[in-house]
Amino acid sequence: MNFKEVFQNEHVTRRFTNRRVPEKAIAEIIEKAQQSPSLLNSQPWRAYVIMGDALEGFKKAAAENMDNKVKPNEDFAAMLSLDWDTFPSSNMAMMGASQSFFFRNKLHLFTEANKTTFNAPAIIFLTIPKKSPAWSVFDLGIFAQSIMLLAINRGLGIMPAHSMVSYPDLVRKYARIPEDESVGMAIAIGYIDKNAEVNDPVFIPKRVPFNKIYKITK
Ligand SMILES: Cc1cc2nc3c(=O)[nH]c(=O)nc-3n(C[C@H](O)[C@H](O)[C@H](O)COP(=O)(O)O)c2cc1C
Repeated sequence: MNFKEVFQNEHVTRRFTNRRVPEKAIAEIIEKAQQSPSLLNSQPWRAYVIMGDALEGFKKAAAENMDNKVKPNEDFAAMLSLDWDTFPSSNMAMMGASQSFFFRNKLHLFTEANKTTFNAPAIIFLTIPKKSPAWSVFDLGIFAQSIMLLAINRGLGIMPAHSMVSYPDLVRKYARIPEDESVGMAIAIGYIDKNAEVNDPVFIPKRVPFNKIYKITK
């Protein structure tokens, strides 16, 4: 794909097909993403992939927690302030307020997709050391974006979701992540189920007007 196509295709996928993604393809994507910039080349990221039995075990345990309404306990929520400024808060509220609109009163599709872990054939968990400055969170975001664009370039769909890191103890157990690392984010990866209603492009939310985020001074 050319860059324009890759970038335009960057929207999330909330339902994957059952087709498995070759282990080698995922490893190649992650290896290429290592080229991402980071503060003083610190490269604080690590990537833990789960597939097969480990993935099935994780999905089952996470769904059970959701069913039992176990309180989410993300590592980043403990590490970073959740005292959001009004600008992102109002952007999120706008999304929330229009969710019934962009999901055409089908919010259950969104909920079900999250609960079934998007039927993902593989998940990449991204970590940084617990002992990290905020810069490392920034670096991890860049690394994540590289992974997603590289995956799209190979014809894959991507699903970054904090719902997959709501229970870091489960992530640690199934992906074998050491205690001294924070489980920052997860990206599910697979082939897009084009027949799934939840993936219908009508559900793609709009962006904030450009003039609200851009200012030039000469
Ligand atoms: C850090 C992060 C966390 C997200 N968490 C979730 C999630 O838990 N569940 C979900 O369905 N979507 C999640 N998303 C997807 C966003 O809702 C989505 O990217 C946004 O609404 C814009 O839609 P688009 O990417 O399809 O254009 C997350 C995205 C990011 C970057």
